[in-house]
Amino acid sequence: MDLFPLLFFGALHGGIHCNPYCTYQYESVEVCEGGSVTIPCWFSYPRNQRESSTDVRIYWRASTSRTCGRNIAIYNHTENQVHGEYTGRISLEGNPKEQNVVSLRIQGIRRSDGPMFCCRVELHGTSPGAVQNINGTVLNFQNESRVEQPDAVPALVNENPIIPCYVFPPQEIQSVTWWRSSSRICSKNQHLITWHKMLQSDTFTGFSLIDPPRDVSLRVENPGSATSKYYCCEVIAKGKTIQRLQGTELVIASRIRNGLFVNQSNEFTAQTGQSVTINCTFSSTTDPLWEGVFWRAGNETGLFAYHPFQKMVHPTYMDRTELRGKADLHIRNVGPTDDTIYFCFVILRTCENTNNFSTKAKYGQGTRMHVSGPGNQWIVPVVVTLTIFFLVILLLGTLIFLKKRGVFFKSRNSPDNMDLTLTDVPPRGQLNNMESEYENNPDITHGPQESGGVFYAQLNMGALENKHKKKTGGTEPEDSPRILYATVKTANTNDVYSTIQ
Ligand SMILES: *[C@@H]1O[C@H](CO)[C@@H](O)[C@H](O)[C@H]1NC(C)=O
Ligand SMILES: *[C@@H]1O[C@H](CO)[C@@H](O)[C@H](O)[C@H]1NC(C)=O
Ligand SMILES: *[C@@H]1O[C@H](CO)[C@@H](O)[C@H](O)[C@H]1NC(C)=O
Ligand SMILES: *[C@@H]1O[C@H](CO)[C@@H](O)[C@H](O)[C@H]1NC(C)=O
Ligand SMILES: *[C@@H]1O[C@H](CO)[C@@H](O)[C@H](O)[C@H]1NC(C)=O
Ligand SMILES: *[C@@H]1O[C@H](CO)[C@@H](O)[C@H](O)[C@H]1NC(C)=O
Ligand SMILES: *[C@@H]1O[C@H](CO)[C@@H](O)[C@H](O)[C@H]1NC(C)=O
Repeated sequence: MDLFPLLFFGALHGGIHCNPYCTYQYESVEVCEGGSVTIPCWFSYPRNQRESSTDVRIYWRASTSRTCGRNIAIYNHTENQVHGEYTGRISLEGNPKEQNVVSLRIQGIRRSDGPMFCCRVELHGTSPGAVQNINGTVLNFQNESRVEQPDAVPALVNENPIIPCYVFPPQEIQSVTWWRSSSRICSKNQHLITWHKMLQSDTFTGFSLIDPPRDVSLRVENPGSATSKYYCCEVIAKGKTIQRLQGTELVIASRIRNGLFVNQSNEFTAQTGQSVTINCTFSSTTDPLWEGVFWRAGNETGLFAYHPFQKMVHPTYMDRTELRGKADLHIRNVGPTDDTIYFCFVILRTCENTNNFSTKAKYGQGTRMHVSGPGNQWIVPVVVTLTIFFLVILLLGTLIFLKKRGVFFKSRNSPDNMDLTLTDVPPRGQLNNMESEYENNPDITHGPQESGGVFYAQLNMGALENKHKKKTGGTEPEDSPRILYATVKTANTNDVYSTIQ
């Protein structure tokens, strides 16, 4: 019964003692009725089969039960056939000859679809072989209760990692129990912790829940020595048990040589507000079946800047980070808090034998991102604006001051308008009476003897009158009164002796 999904043509040929044929699918995908979904299938087959003559063909089977068995292929690559009710709704994405992942795309999702989809890979060449996923990908309709757990998470041997478990849609949780097992399929091997709404929660050393019932994720203390690596959460809500079929594998990452190489650039500088891509490359001595990438910030056990599970991404990086290419971290809108070191974690699954893989993890040496000084981007425009502002204020102030002064001069002295000459020589035949009056006044102290102590001001009234006439349009009467003010002082005492009008 368990054997028939796997047909090994290679085994029939007898030449291959080991059959590293594997397929790998996610346990489930979320869909909504009428929407579309892409179900990826990773696969690997022996290296010696990679000749150009080898024909790689992909098939998909659908099932209403846990396994797909020999159900009719809803997608037959050989015939390029699509079965019955899926006609016009499914297509294959990716080229199996060039990549090790292809995806089944289903459009116009119906309640009656699947819900289980299993991929099958057949090799037609010199030494044919085939492999089919036993436990495929199941469709989860959005309004149906489910728990979500990642397939694998990395951890360091000295940290207390968190295994995420989220219940959808959000609902009241009555109890949660965590189990640990040595196989990918959840089994009730080892009971770790139980929390119940009504009862006291079990206290187990080494395990705790983050914040039940809001967050029922599990914190594991010192998991390094654990031989069983798969963690499964089982939730009871509305009287129903909700559980995933497959657990989360906790993978201890190290820098110890393990056939996986992760390389990062050392450092670089980014500017506030920029978007950056931090490079990470990896390679392996074995052919990868599936790989997962994670990014941690600050230190090797720091918060997640990127995690395939959005809820595990630290709020500082939420909605700002994504993977670019295979493993590069893209950060949008870099800010001063991003100024730290970033570690690239890679989890690699390698096909060991038929649908049986091994997992290893490695992390890079870290990339230091320097974010150029807080505000370097805004300080320059602000300084320029302020400088311009003050210059304008200064200019306006000067103009206003000058204008006020100008108005003052014009209204009081008007030296421009009057042709005034100051001399100590009396003009001929003018002001004779005044002259004699002053000279004969005994109260007036005499100035320089040469000029007899008297200054004479000669006023060219003609120039003044011409200007005045122009301004008033010549309507001013000839004999309108004009007043001239003068102050007489001596040069040394500054005393005022007399004013004339
Ligand atoms: C694909 O179609 C061909 C021809 O109908 C059939 O022989 C073959 O078994 C089909 N493959 C699968 C996996 O169903
Ligand atoms: C989800 O919605 C469909 C109709 O869209 C309904 O038939 C089904 O019973 C709902 N399931 C749950 C668990 O509410
Ligand atoms: C996976 O498939 C096997 C049959 O090969 C079945 O016995 C097992 O129950 C399946 N696992 C789950 C979790 O459905
Ligand atoms: C790691 O990457 C750097 C460039 O980012 C390169 O210079 C170096 O050779 C690489 N090291 C290895 C071991 O691939
Ligand atoms: C990443 O690599 C690309 C080209 O491969 C390069 O242009 C870019 O500067 C690199 N980014 C960093 C942060 O080193
Ligand atoms: C690593 O980073 C985390 C989170 O920022 C911090 O709590 C922890 O103390 C750091 N560990 C070390 C060894 O610096
Ligand atoms: C997977 O392979 C390992 C050895 O590589 C073996 O110990 C283990 O039992 C296998 N698991 C299954 C489910 O066949």
